[in-house]
Amino acid sequence: MQNIDLEFLKQSRPHFPVLIAEVLDSLNLPQENSSPKIYLDCTFGAGGYSEMILANPNTQVIAIDRDETTKVFADKLLQKYPDRFKFFLATFSSYPQILDSLNLKVDGIVMDLGFSSMQINNSQRGFSFKNSGDLLMTMGLNKISAHELINKASETLLADVIFYYGEEHKAKQIAKRIIEFRNTEEIKTTGQLADIVRRVVGGSKTKTDPATKTFQAIRIYINDELHELQDSLKNAYNYLNHKGRLSVVSFHSLEDRIVKDFFNENGEVIKKFTNYKPNLATTNSKYKILTKKPIIPSEEEARINPPSSSAKLRVVEKI
Ligand SMILES: C[S@@+](CC[C@H](N)C(=O)[O-])C[C@H]1O[C@@H](n2cnc3c(N)ncnc32)[C@H](O)[C@@H]1O
Repeated sequence: MQNIDLEFLKQSRPHFPVLIAEVLDSLNLPQENSSPKIYLDCTFGAGGYSEMILANPNTQVIAIDRDETTKVFADKLLQKYPDRFKFFLATFSSYPQILDSLNLKVDGIVMDLGFSSMQINNSQRGFSFKNSGDLLMTMGLNKISAHELINKASETLLADVIFYYGEEHKAKQIAKRIIEFRNTEEIKTTGQLADIVRRVVGGSKTKTDPATKTFQAIRIYINDELHELQDSLKNAYNYLNHKGRLSVVSFHSLEDRIVKDFFNENGEVIKKFTNYKPNLATTNSKYKILTKKPIIPSEEEARINPPSSSAKLRVVEKI
């Protein structure tokens, strides 16, 4: 595994590329004299993963992000690597169309799920309950904003979103309070919403803000995050070359469960039968699971970049 100066990375990049050494390792980058490999970076962000992959001269990267503000970072890489880098402003579930248009299959697909530091730290993007801003939470190419959901959705829909996507047990009470509030006043800012939620959920004994789960739920719904993930995982097999790797970094249990279940269902789950039916494993399994347990950040990484502490990397290889 490459030795990477994490302190330097933290200071020099607008978004810290989580588990970077482990991700690079998982992608099985080509050796100096071996044939070139092509990678799909589904979540370009500030380009940390793409740039580190491109540092290997035997690689090409196709990168996608739905957020148009990431284009400035993509433009820098386009200038540096005009022949080996391509960027598409799109949702990553549309990668089959993108790769079809290029007539390409790839040797690795990487996903670094969720939002970037640029998105959460800019209060105008409306993701943050710490710094109030307009209620948006849109990463880009969205059908609706958090403002529409919060001010127009039915109480049942709000309660379902907050319960299923936030795993928040007080979802029904929160939804009821949102409806009561918006009957008197439009809910315009993340600050207003966070206060409504905090009053229902009450004080937290941990450091976690009581609004965390509700904000996660709304963000997932507005950006259709779980369907984006599911669709993309399902399509990966058809777009990976033999022995191609699929590496996914997730940040909360809903995402990780989808990745884990998908890998288990399509990986070597039948291996337990190999003692008496050896052929079954290879005929039915599509992927070899390379991470029996998820890879998590080192203590050093979690200290330098605390948001990374919830990250989990899971990797499979096409067989
Ligand atoms: C955690 S950041 C990625 C950071 C990146 N690995 C780096 O090193 O800079 C996640 C990025 O994925 C993008 N994103 C999230 N969901 C997406 C989707 N469904 N389609 C396309 N981009 C998405 C976000 O806009 C954000 O820029």
